Amino acid sequence: MTVEEAMTGRRSIRAFLPKPVPRPLIERILTIASRAPSGSNAQPWRAWVLEGEAKASLARDLHDRYLRDEPGHDDYFYYLDAWREPYLARRRATGWGLYGLIGIAKGDRAAMRAQHARNFLFFDAPVGLIFTIDRDLGLGAWLDYGMFLQSIMIAARGVGLETCPQAAFCRYHRVIEKRLGIPPDQILVCGMALGYADPEADVNRLRTERAPLSEFATFVDRLPE
Ligand SMILES: Cc1cc2nc3c(=O)[nH]c(=O)nc-3n(C[C@H](O)[C@H](O)[C@H](O)COP(=O)(O)O)c2cc1C
Repeated sequence: MTVEEAMTGRRSIRAFLPKPVPRPLIERILTIASRAPSGSNAQPWRAWVLEGEAKASLARDLHDRYLRDEPGHDDYFYYLDAWREPYLARRRATGWGLYGLIGIAKGDRAAMRAQHARNFLFFDAPVGLIFTIDRDLGLGAWLDYGMFLQSIMIAARGVGLETCPQAAFCRYHRVIEKRLGIPPDQILVCGMALGYADPEADVNRLRTERAPLSEFATFVDRLPE
C-alpha cells in the first residue's frame, strides 16, 4: 500500500469482525504512531488500551447510561453549539449518508439514537482505545495529538486493521476516568475503535466527501499591493 492509498482509502469504520487483534500488533501500531512529530518532542499522548472483559464491561456500562439518557459533561469545547455553514451542511451530509445506508429514515430519532449508542460499544471492535492528555498543556499539544491519532489510523491500515475515531466518549469522561483510574491531571481527548473491518456491513460503505482544493487552499505568488 502506498502512503497515498493508506490515506485516501482510510475511512471511519463502524462495524468490525469479531476477530481478535494480537497484542503485538496493537503495540506495533502505537509504537509506529509515536514517531509523530510534536513541538519540542513533548509527545503529549497517553493511550489506554482496552481489550477483553475490560473493554466489554466499560462498553456495556456506557451504552446503558446513554440509553438511559444519563446526561454527560463536556470537558472541552469541540463542536459548535450553534452549527453554521459550511460545517452544518457537512455534518448533515455525513449524518444522512450514514443513516441512509443503514435504512434509518429522516426523523426516526429512536433509530438514530440506537445507532449513536453503538459508539459506546466501540462498534463491536475487539480493541477500544481511550486517549488522554495532560490538562495543563496548551493548544499546540492538541495539534500534536491530532498527528498522533492520524498516525495510528494510517499505521493500522498498514497491518490490515481499520479504525473509527470517537469523540462520543467525551460525554462520559467522568465515568471513564473513574473506571480506568485516569489521574485527575489528565483530560480525555477521544476514543477510537480498532479492529478488522466487516466488509459485508452496509454502514462501512459510507464514503464522505471533501471540499475541492480550491475551497481550502490559496496559492500566493504575488502579495497584494
Ligand atoms: C476527533 C474525531 C472524533 C470523531 N468522533 C466520532 C464519533 O464519536 N462517532 C463516529 O461515528 N464518528 C466519529 N468521527 C468520525 C467522523 O465522523 C469522520 O472522520 C468524518 O465524517 C469523515 O469521514 P471518514 O473518517 O470516513 O473519512 C470522529 C472523527 C474525529 C477526527
